[in-house]
Amino acid sequence: MTSALPTSKAVLLTATKLNKTVHVGDQSLSIIKDVDIHVNAGEFVVIMGKSGSGKSTLLGLLAALDYPDSGDVELAGQTLSRLNEDALAVIRQRDMGFVFQSFHLLPTLTVAENIAFPLDIARRPDAARVDELIEAVDLGHRRHSLPNQLSGGEQQRTAVARALVSRPKIVFADEPTGNLDEQNANQVMQLLLDLRQKTGSALVVVTHDSALADMADRVITMHDGRIVS
Ligand SMILES: Nc1ncnc2c1ncn2[C@@H]1O[C@H](COP(=O)(O)OP(=O)(O)OP(=O)(O)O)[C@@H](O)[C@H]1O
Ligand SMILES: [Mg+2]
Repeated sequence: MTSALPTSKAVLLTATKLNKTVHVGDQSLSIIKDVDIHVNAGEFVVIMGKSGSGKSTLLGLLAALDYPDSGDVELAGQTLSRLNEDALAVIRQRDMGFVFQSFHLLPTLTVAENIAFPLDIARRPDAARVDELIEAVDLGHRRHSLPNQLSGGEQQRTAVARALVSRPKIVFADEPTGNLDEQNANQVMQLLLDLRQKTGSALVVVTHDSALADMADRVITMHDGRIVS
């Protein structure tokens, strides 16, 4: 397996016996079943599996965007389920980056403002870092553009820069190339990998792209709410 970064063996994230049930009408559906998973510092992990197998749900639990019914997620020694919403918000801002299939940029902010956003809400503005990221994703000529003035590839490059700007410990990406053509998909993925190498962030990517899986340190396959390999 190719690893651009010499991954340290230190465990960064550990999830233990995660379970999640959703209620649809009078039915209870178990959608995550006894999932154990760990991610090492700097590691690139890909999660694959059929549609509906629970990949996005699991990513949401790992990123503390959603609560498990039972089980724990520990990030850098902190048990996320024991933290209140304010403490979790701090961890999301400081230690986590996110990239979504549908970009999720703030529509009223420019490219530069979107990239700066994580630093600004953490009250750690850093114009030099924002400029560095804008150049890294090759959007210098679009820095004052609004998201609706950008192509899909440009929007996702903005989202990648935003995800990495605060040098998070871990970046979660849910089908980051799912809405892009092959050329833009390759470019966005390469940028994500390059920036992750520079900042030393771990990267957890849900994808259907086997080319991407080939680049990962480890591939996890889900089936029906469980990890099967
Ligand atoms: N809030 C919810 N209410 C009801 N069912 C849900 C809810 N969230 C997820 N599910 C169901 O849980 C299962 C797992 O969903 P999830 O979105 O995690 O799958 P996925 O592996 O990400 O699929 P895809 O590849 O299509 O994105 C699916 O059967 C889905 O319909
Ligand atoms: Mg999904």
